[in-house]
Amino acid sequence: MIDPLGRLAADRRLARERQDPCAALCTLGNLGADGWPETRTLVLRDLEDRLAVFVNATSPKFTQLDRVSLVVWLPSLNVQYRLRCETEPVPRELVADSWQLRPEPPKHMDWLYTLARPQSSPIESRERLLEELASLSLPEPLTAPDTARGFYLLPQVIDRLDLGMENGIHDRRRYLPGNPSWSEVVLVP
Ligand SMILES: Cc1cc2nc3c(=O)[nH]c(=O)nc-3n(C[C@H](O)[C@H](O)[C@H](O)COP(=O)(O)O)c2cc1C
Repeated sequence: MIDPLGRLAADRRLARERQDPCAALCTLGNLGADGWPETRTLVLRDLEDRLAVFVNATSPKFTQLDRVSLVVWLPSLNVQYRLRCETEPVPRELVADSWQLRPEPPKHMDWLYTLARPQSSPIESRERLLEELASLSLPEPLTAPDTARGFYLLPQVIDRLDLGMENGIHDRRRYLPGNPSWSEVVLVP
């Protein structure tokens, strides 16, 4: 069966085994409110067998994430994936559970965004940022703020490019979702 998501999962698993620094990451692109394409690195999560990203709702990107493009580049395999995705919110309880696994500094940052300083907003200095972080009134026990959010990624197009072919001619395939399974087209790489 044609299963590009299974292939992506297997490729990412192999990349993790090879200690690939990109195995857990993606580059996520969207169209900003001003019409410019924007990209940033995010952790690409496997949440209950679905792809997901976690963001903070105070970031300007938050309202622009209904349609996104993703690049996953796995240098240890010489493989690139490009995905076009629609998105769907991750249930709050699941976000809250995963949030507990985060290290302290990003947890504190999520509360700073929520209580004082939206993500990606300018601030007078790094010193000021550290002061405000240190004087933040954090809830006890430390729980996820409402601004901690997650989006499932629902791929509509998947493009896989494999640079690792023995004869040097790259292998490129585009996958589209269909019923009962995905369809596959070979592309000129
Ligand atoms: C390795 C790496 C992983 C990152 N993971 C995340 C993430 O999971 N969620 C997130 O919101 N930002 C993450 N960031 C930070 C984003 O790249 C970006 O700087 C931040 O989200 C603010 O971007 P914005 O102005 O587009 O909102 C990560 C950055 C790096 C370098």
